[in-house]
Amino acid sequence: MTKLWEARRAVESIEEEMLNLLRRRQFDAADEKSRLIAKDTYERFVKPLNDCEVFQLIDEITGGLAYRKGDFNIMRMVYCGSIIAWPEAIPDGGRVLEIGTGIGRTCYVAIEWANPSLFVTIDVSPFVLAIALFRNTVSAYRESLWRKHVKIVLYDSLKAADALNLMFDHIIHDGGPNPRRNPALYSRESLYTLSKVLKLGGSMSIFAGRDRKWQNEIDRTLKSQGFEVKSASFPDAPTLVFHAAKKNRVLE
Ligand SMILES: C[S@@+](CC[C@H](N)C(=O)[O-])C[C@H]1O[C@@H](n2cnc3c(N)ncnc32)[C@H](O)[C@@H]1O
Repeated sequence: MTKLWEARRAVESIEEEMLNLLRRRQFDAADEKSRLIAKDTYERFVKPLNDCEVFQLIDEITGGLAYRKGDFNIMRMVYCGSIIAWPEAIPDGGRVLEIGTGIGRTCYVAIEWANPSLFVTIDVSPFVLAIALFRNTVSAYRESLWRKHVKIVLYDSLKAADALNLMFDHIIHDGGPNPRRNPALYSRESLYTLSKVLKLGGSMSIFAGRDRKWQNEIDRTLKSQGFEVKSASFPDAPTLVFHAAKKNRVLE
């Protein structure tokens, strides 16, 4: 409880500053601030944890990253990450916005398998960022998060997205753990806010989980907001990811 309370306080303490930096497109400064808090969180809370506790914390925050209990299958994890990141849709030199940095799996896929000029990634948890940057279970994910064109924003994307003053070519929406457990992030309003910072002709990939009711709801919302939607599924689970293309400006 203390840990959670401290994390909330750390994020709240930078609220105004972070929103101003985003409004002014000062991603370098937002990134620097976010990494400082992540470092402090690492020193105070994450460093003393053993490996098992680190895994537990990752699972708690992210809902799991497509590996199975007791089987850290990195192949499956990256395969599923590639369906979520949808790197084929990222134009050469394009700008990418990500909701849900997690431990950097989808960042790795997007910047290694495509060639964006800017990758802005938002996460509300200083704990997951502390692990991702300083104690990552996959070194390739950690390295990708330290690349120069990757800008981390430690903040609540529900507020941050509205402050963004820049248009993106591609959005990766992997804010979890899943729609049922984090409904606000998948609401009409939230998806509308994201679609406002997506260029016409741009693309958005949304992790839609395995709950049929939520899948239908997200699909309907995207279509009503001017998206053409296709679904992709994980190879051995009913989990869906929507790949959506913004075709017109008729937004709700
Ligand atoms: C499934 S994980 C992301 C996994 C990551 N894309 C990867 O592949 O490593 C979901 C993440 O969304 C973050 N999250 C949840 N609600 C959020 C919010 N309102 N704003 C920003 N991030 C949020 C969680 O802290 C968590 O790290």
